[in-house]
Amino acid sequence: MNSIWQNVTWDIARAGGFTTYVLLALAVIMGLALSTQLQSPGRWPRLINSELHNFLTLLSSIFLVVHIAAVWIDPFTHFGWSDILMPFATSYRPIWMALGIVGVYLGIAIGISTLLRPYIGYKLWRKLHILTLLIFMLATIHGIGTGSDTQTRWALGLYAVSSILVALLLIRRLWALKKKRTPVVNPARQRPWAA
Ligand code: HEM
Repeated sequence: MNSIWQNVTWDIARAGGFTTYVLLALAVIMGLALSTQLQSPGRWPRLINSELHNFLTLLSSIFLVVHIAAVWIDPFTHFGWSDILMPFATSYRPIWMALGIVGVYLGIAIGISTLLRPYIGYKLWRKLHILTLLIFMLATIHGIGTGSDTQTRWALGLYAVSSILVALLLIRRLWALKKKRTPVVNPARQRPWAA
């Protein structure tokens, strides 16, 4: 009986982990696409919008709760509160677990900053929002490091595709920022005689 229960909780933990990860990746991808104004009414059926970004983030948080609860209930690992809440407190893969826990705390901080946006201002909120990229990185390393499915092709493919998409959109975002910051030099001012 105990072993059936153990299989159920462990399977839910694994499935919950991957679902959280995919939804988080999609939320980050959607956020980066929004910030680079990738949505164009002509080409995209308005699929990229902030409501979907918020919905994916919420859904990811719900599955994260399922993931953590299943890991905590699992009779094999015997986790206590401190193992789940405190980075490095567990003896079970402490570094990889700590990355997941720190990711959750950063996520909570970003969630709070969103609630406080009217008070802290858009600029600070936006700066803090950059931390979501760190959360994605921590979640990726946590999943690869601690997951029992990391050896499988589908899991590696999932991590690779998500990371590549995020990296490509981030490069696009940084490129757009660089272009925006480069001052447009008026050739007439540079060479007055040419005018
Ligand atoms: C940003 C939040 C998190 C995400 C996206 C995430 C995602 C994942 C993923 C994708 C896996 C791999 C599952 C597998 O290979 O089967 C995993 C494994 C695991 N996670 Fe998380 N996780 C997060 C936070 C946490 C936290 C806070 C804890 C602990 C309190 C935790 C505990 C575990 C454990 C014990 C495993 C190992 C499961 C196994 O061996 O298959 N995770 N997680």
